[in-house]
Amino acid sequence: TQSERDSLYIVMNYAKEYYKDLLLSSEEGRSIGLSYFRERGFNDRTIEKFELGYTLNEWDHLYKAARSKGYSEEILEKSGLLIVKKEEGKKYDRFRGRVIFPVHNLAGKVIAFGARILTKEKDQPKYINSPETEIYHKSNVLYGLYQGKNAIRKEEFCYLVEGYTDVLSLHQADIENVVASSGTALTEEQIKLMRRFTENVTVLYDGDAAGIKAALRGIDLVLKGGLNVRIVLLPDGEDPDSFSRKKGSTELKQYLKSNTQDFISFKIGLYSKDAGHDPIKKAEAIREIVTSIGVIPDPIKRSVYIQETSHLLKISESVLFTELNKLLIQDR
Ligand code: CTP
Ligand code: MN
Ligand code: MN
Ligand code: MN
Ligand code: MN
Repeated sequence: TQSERDSLYIVMNYAKEYYKDLLLSSEEGRSIGLSYFRERGFNDRTIEKFELGYTLNEWDHLYKAARSKGYSEEILEKSGLLIVKKEEGKKYDRFRGRVIFPVHNLAGKVIAFGARILTKEKDQPKYINSPETEIYHKSNVLYGLYQGKNAIRKEEFCYLVEGYTDVLSLHQADIENVVASSGTALTEEQIKLMRRFTENVTVLYDGDAAGIKAALRGIDLVLKGGLNVRIVLLPDGEDPDSFSRKKGSTELKQYLKSNTQDFISFKIGLYSKDAGHDPIKKAEAIREIVTSIGVIPDPIKRSVYIQETSHLLKISESVLFTELNKLLIQDR
């Protein structure tokens, strides 16, 4: 109901302010949380802009503080902030001993949190995230969209990255047109959401095997959503955050500028690396590319990409169109 959603917004805002205060004003928050962000190179402006926070390493400190302010146990549980185990008669805060990344909706209201562990503990997940609630449906949220939407409109394109800290680091390098899918595999809803701000997406995922795999999947999904897609490959082992810190703003911008490829060149590069002169592998690569072209809804764009592929791979357009049409017929 609307009134329940309103209460959820209010309690999430309360928690956000509470975590923020802990980061900036408590001794534990400053010595552990704030030092952590500082060591990673995040400045006050970034910390303020993204409303970062800290949560104490205690079982139920948020619960107690919120109860004393009059928030009900029921709303705390519904918000995902409190975990209640009825059978065991236990309740405890979901987020403990971590730094906090609030997730904002388009109006700037906090609808979820991501919480990162500070030390390397083998049995603990690196990030813990809010569960789905009445106000948080993770498949249609993009981290950073609230902070980046004006820049996305202005630049007329948007970088798509994997994680929270990638968004923060790009902002700090003066690149604000960026959003993250945040761990969840990119969804159609997220693409529709992006489409309200731009037609152009540049995928900038982590430079590892998982990142390339996710990028390939992302490319087809973005194309299917009717958007134009480009891609930047980062050096092996780097993500936008680590790379940006290493290079600094000017060099990063230069790298992005000279390494942005359209998806056809990207796929050709990827497949020709192992194809070499093997005709069978080349045929597979061509089929891969035509398959991506096949998901593009606009026939004019399809035909432009067929021309490009024909040119780059030195194969006749008519052969490519025949292959494309086979796919399009299968699809119906
Ligand atoms: N993620 C998650 N849960 C995990 C691991 C990752 O929700 N256990 C999400 C987070 O949103 C994270 C993103 O997936 O930001 C990308 O994961 P990864 O590249 O592993 O983390 P980084 O963003 O690089 O985080 P950091 O730099 O803090 O290590
Ligand atoms: Mn709903
Ligand atoms: Mn990764
Ligand atoms: Mn990463
Ligand atoms: Mn990282």
